[in-house]
Amino acid sequence: MDEITQKVSDRYAKAASTGEQMCCPTSYDMANLQSFIPEEVLKISYGCGTPAGLKSVAQGETVLDIGSGGGIDCFEASRLVGPTGHVIGIDMTDTMLEIAQRNAPIVAANLGYPSSNIEFRKGMADAMPVEKGAIDLIISNCVINLAPDKRKVFQEMFRVAKPGGRFTISDIVADQPVPQYLIHDSEKWGDCLSGALTLTDYIAGLTEAGFLGLHLITSSPWQVIDGIHFFSVTLTGYKIPAATTVSTVRYATLRGPFSRVVDELGTTYFRGVPQPITQNVATLLSLAPLAEHFVLSPDQLCLDQADSRWTAVYPTKGPCLWQGHFALLAGPFVEATDDDHHLYRRGEPVEVCNRTLTVLETAAYAPHFAIINRATQRMSEETDSCAPDGSCC
Ligand SMILES: C[S@@+](CC[C@H](N)C(=O)[O-])C[C@H]1O[C@@H](n2cnc3c(N)ncnc32)[C@H](O)[C@@H]1O
Repeated sequence: MDEITQKVSDRYAKAASTGEQMCCPTSYDMANLQSFIPEEVLKISYGCGTPAGLKSVAQGETVLDIGSGGGIDCFEASRLVGPTGHVIGIDMTDTMLEIAQRNAPIVAANLGYPSSNIEFRKGMADAMPVEKGAIDLIISNCVINLAPDKRKVFQEMFRVAKPGGRFTISDIVADQPVPQYLIHDSEKWGDCLSGALTLTDYIAGLTEAGFLGLHLITSSPWQVIDGIHFFSVTLTGYKIPAATTVSTVRYATLRGPFSRVVDELGTTYFRGVPQPITQNVATLLSLAPLAEHFVLSPDQLCLDQADSRWTAVYPTKGPCLWQGHFALLAGPFVEATDDDHHLYRRGEPVEVCNRTLTVLETAAYAPHFAIINRATQRMSEETDSCAPDGSCC
């Protein structure tokens, strides 16, 4: 174990035995969890999200939790997969594993299961003691930022996922690369800050490992240190299985809200214009987070504003106020353009005025963006327009 990882493990061993408060706000339904998970586990919940993929867990599935800590998410997964499902929690810290293991039979009894459907294994996130292609859903809550070699963790995730499997992970990311003086601060590393990747690098690591259909479930601001914004994101992505049937789909027409997008396989689409696609692209576009954006068809199909499937959101009239907001596209496209000519590249902060913010907060756009505010003080209320005719930049 390298020095940083040893310090992280010592830190969490200490936290597990003292029950100290650490890390970030989550949005657990505590009343529900308290009904079957002992307090000893709940008080050492150190996540930075609520892996929302749990909502999509089906009975009988196999779930893996990387860095399971006291086991809070494993126990919730245990309830959701039911007695026929299986949950594996992996952690490198003995004290955490002992608490989780001790509580597994208690939770099983509280759920009315004949025996526990969870096993906790000691192991590292970048070399997981899990066989290839065994997992339906990988979850992880505020752990991967702590691992020194994230790319290896992402590769391991892809190895253990079943074809057709998916992940939902909550983690801390930064709006810019974390500088060396913070990277070498082991205290802040243990606080889930120094090891944070930028959103761009985080998503790139997952797509390089082979995952597709990456998209944002939630994001929320966490801390600002020396101008670096740390925020938590919950992301989902898929290990797409090889196509077994030949699809009749030949064309995809973008419905909106974006006026132009580039998918993860490099195909560009303009809203309303039929784009010829390959079988692989048809499979990608059929995934839930992408399907709603397209009409897939065997024939060329054009859309215009009069069509109810057209989902553009146009900018409102009025002055631009710059108030420090930046928008980070978080999928499922690598590049996208709105109707005010803003070009968003996945993970990269783009400064937006209040008018654009209003557009990005609409139901059609909001799920695709993390919004941060880099202003350190309240901006003046003076209006500032980027073009002489009052149009937005
Ligand atoms: C911030 S805590 C989160 C625990 C748990 N996921 C939760 O939500 O309460 C991080 C946990 O990940 C474990 N951990 C950190 N780095 C790890 C690594 N590289 N491999 C395995 N476990 C790791 C720690 O021991 C600790 O239990």
